Amino acid sequence: MTEEKSDFSEKAYEDVKRAKLEYEHAFDAVSDLILIVDADHTITMANSALADRMGMDASGLTGLKCYEVMHGMGKPPVFCPHSAFKNGGKSVSVELELDSLKGIFEIIISPIIGDEGGLISTVHIARDVTEKKRNEKLIAAQQRELKELVASQESRIEKMVSELRSKDDYLIQHSRLMAMSEMISNIAHQWRQPLNNIGLIVQGIQIAFKTGELTEEELEADTNETMKVIKQMSETIDDFRDFFSHEEEESSFRISELLSNSISFIEPSFNRRGIKITVDETITKTLIGYRTELKQVFINILLNARDALVENKTEEPCIKVSFSQEGERAVVTIKDNGGGISEDILPKIYDPYYTTRKSNTASGIGLYMAKMIVERKMGGVLSARNVDGGAEFKIELLG
Ligand SMILES: Nc1ncnc2c1ncn2[C@@H]1O[C@H](COP(=O)(O)OP(=O)(O)OP(=O)(O)O)[C@@H](O)[C@H]1O
Ligand SMILES: [Mg+2]
Repeated sequence: MTEEKSDFSEKAYEDVKRAKLEYEHAFDAVSDLILIVDADHTITMANSALADRMGMDASGLTGLKCYEVMHGMGKPPVFCPHSAFKNGGKSVSVELELDSLKGIFEIIISPIIGDEGGLISTVHIARDVTEKKRNEKLIAAQQRELKELVASQESRIEKMVSELRSKDDYLIQHSRLMAMSEMISNIAHQWRQPLNNIGLIVQGIQIAFKTGELTEEELEADTNETMKVIKQMSETIDDFRDFFSHEEEESSFRISELLSNSISFIEPSFNRRGIKITVDETITKTLIGYRTELKQVFINILLNARDALVENKTEEPCIKVSFSQEGERAVVTIKDNGGGISEDILPKIYDPYYTTRKSNTASGIGLYMAKMIVERKMGGVLSARNVDGGAEFKIELLG
C-alpha cells in the first residue's frame, strides 16, 4: 500500500514537473508580452518576449512593482485596471503608448480571483500594435490628402467645365455673327420687292390725288396693301432678331416650319449661285428644344453644302432636304451633290477650328458647334457620310 502511494506521488510529481516545463516553455515561446502581477502590483512573472523588449532578464523583473517598471511612476496610475479588479470585474482591454516598451500596445488584462473571491493576481497580455497604428495613421493621412486632392480637382474640373461652357457659348455667338452677313444680304433681298411695292402704291396715290381720281375706297385699299407689306417686312426683322437673341429655354416648334424658315434665311445666296433646294417631308412633327440653335445647325449645314458646290463648280448643283420619322426619332437629312468629304478628313470635320476652306471667313467651328447643339444640348445624333457623289448630313432628334 505504502509502496503504491509512493509510486503514485512520484508519478504525480513527474506529471506536475512536466506540465510546469510545458507551461514555462509555452509562456516564453509566445510573441505577445506577458506579465503576471500580484494583488499588490508586484511582478511575479514576465515572459521572455517582455524581458527581451526591456533589455532585461525575466527573473530580474520579478519582485519589482509593475507601475515603476512599466510606467516609471511611484504609484499605480489612475487608469490602472489592476486596482479596479480588487472590487471584482472581468477582463478589460486597453490601448497604451508605453515609453518603457517603446511602442503602442493593445493590452488585455484578466484578473485571477481566488476561492474566497479576492484578487490573487492579474495577467497582462500585450500585443505590439505600433506598426499597425502607424499604418492606420498613414492611411488616414493619405485618405485626408486624397480627399483634399479630389476636392481640389473637382473644383478645378468644375471651373474648367464652366470655362469650356462659356467658350462654347462664345463659339455659338461667333458662328451666329458669321451667319449675320448672310442674313443681312437676305434681308436686303427680301425687302427690295416690298419696298418697290410700297413705292408704287405711294406713287399711285399721289397721281390719283393730283388727277382728283382718289376715292376713299381706293385710299383704304392702298393703305391696307401697304400695311400688309410693312407687316411682312417687320416679320423678317423679327426672325432676324430672334436668331441673335440668346436662347435660355426650350420651346416647342414644328420641324417643317423651322426648316423652311432656316432655308428662307439664306435662300437668296443659293438662288444667286443657281443652287436648287428641294424639301421632301413625310412628317409635320412638333419637337421641343432650342429652336434658334437648331435653326443655326440647319443653316450651317446648308452653307457648308453651298460652299462645297461652289468650290467644286458642280453642274446642276442641288441640295435635297428631307425629314421623316424613324421610330421615336425625327430624322432630317441634308444631302448635296458637291463631291462629298474625302474619307481621311471625315473623322476631323467636327473638330473645332478644322477647315479646308480657303476663305478667311471660314473658322472651322460650324460643324463643331452643330454637333454640340444636336448631341449635347438636345440629346440627338449628328452624323455625316458620302452618298452619290455628295455629302449627306443626318440629324436625329428625339421626338
Ligand atoms: N457638304 C460638305 N461637303 C464637303 N465637305 C464638307 C461639307 N460640309 C463640311 N465639309 C468639310 O468639313 C469642314 C468643317 O466644316 P465646318 O462647318 O466645321 O467649318 P467650315 O465650313 O470650314 O468653316 P465655318 O463653318 O466656321 O465657316 C469643312 O472645311 C469641309 O472640309
Ligand atoms: Mg461651315
